[in-house]
Amino acid sequence: MKIVIISPTYNEAVNIKKLIPLLEEQIIPQIKNHDVKILIVDDNSPDGTTDVVKELMTKYKNVELLNGDKKGLGAAYVRGMHYAMDKMQADAIMEFDADFQHDPADIPRLIEAMDKGADMVIGSRYVPGGGIPKEWGLHRKIISRFGGLFAQIMLWRFDVHDMTAGYKLTRTSFLKNVDLDHLYSKYYAYKLHILHDILKQGAKVTEVPIIFYERKEGSSKITRKDLFDSFYVVVRLRLRDSASFIKFLLVGGTGFLVQLIMQEGAVRIGTTHPVGVAIGAESAIISNFLFNNFWTFKAADKSNTNGNFFVRLIKFNVTSLASIVIQFFADYFAEMFFGPKIQLLSYTLPTRIVILIPTIIFLVIPLNYIIYSKIIWKTNKVKK
Ligand code: GDD
Ligand code: MN
Repeated sequence: MKIVIISPTYNEAVNIKKLIPLLEEQIIPQIKNHDVKILIVDDNSPDGTTDVVKELMTKYKNVELLNGDKKGLGAAYVRGMHYAMDKMQADAIMEFDADFQHDPADIPRLIEAMDKGADMVIGSRYVPGGGIPKEWGLHRKIISRFGGLFAQIMLWRFDVHDMTAGYKLTRTSFLKNVDLDHLYSKYYAYKLHILHDILKQGAKVTEVPIIFYERKEGSSKITRKDLFDSFYVVVRLRLRDSASFIKFLLVGGTGFLVQLIMQEGAVRIGTTHPVGVAIGAESAIISNFLFNNFWTFKAADKSNTNGNFFVRLIKFNVTSLASIVIQFFADYFAEMFFGPKIQLLSYTLPTRIVILIPTIIFLVIPLNYIIYSKIIWKTNKVKK
């Protein structure tokens, strides 16, 4: 495998002068089964970081340097990732800070975890054996933990314990499917976006415990703004990924109105009540179908076998029928257990009404959504 270690630098002359020789002489020789290269992405650091790197490049031939304008850590990484994938044919990319907060001695362990089958390896501070600097004050610890927890909940990811980890190794076969040029942040929060879009592809993740050391030379470039930026990125990712579910709920709501209007209209022009009810129900089904087809799930791949409009309409009708069956049995069993009436606090309510709400929320809505998005309007999985 060709592994490119990307190390972004901004005013890291002192650190990089020690780091590159250490990697070259002590770490990379330990990695016998892979071709390891180093890519330094600098942003015209005023302290002469690039001069130091250029000097070292005369001695170490597997080091490359990219220079550019300072647009933020995420922008620097994206620049480096494109270069590593397009120009260096990287099979895997390591994100690695140049300030010794990431211990170079951990590199072989991250690579071993990928050798064992991981698609993404996270150097994690928050698994047993991992840790954060002892020097960190309480408020910094709290921000780090709560920020991570917020991201875990919003992105519904409890299998990753360090969501903002900066020390990572990722297969480029997954990275290639991430829209790197439109990440929601050019700063530190870029990594939340990449992480989420890698995990969404079903990548196999392994967390390797690492100690995140305190900085000894130079200074951190992270600011308070980055905290808000991370919140913003997480919320935006959630909205993006929930867009079709929100639309699906809205369509369901309009369906109810359509049903009512058509049912009452039919009765008004003289149909019998049951016929009016049936006309209302089928009108709602057709209107829901049209809205879902042309709005909620318009991105669904229309070229596959699901593509036929009428086949979809039939499947949709069958699904609606299934919902009726589910509601029938929910009421049947509820009345078997509780009888026709349920005592709720000081109210006595008909069981068929009480059971309706949980049945719709916990059975009908999730089941319909899954069938719509995974079967009727299945979108093509991202290509590997
Ligand atoms: N080229 C470039 N451009 N490099 C940058 C820039 C930039 O705008 N900003 C920072 N860097 C480089 C630094 O020189 C350093 O090598 C590395 O990126 C990390 O920057 P720090 O400023 O030291 O970040 P940190 O230590 O506060 O944050 C680290 O830990 C966080 C977790 O607590 C990073 O790894 C974060 O990604 C991580 O979330
Ligand atoms: Mn740092």
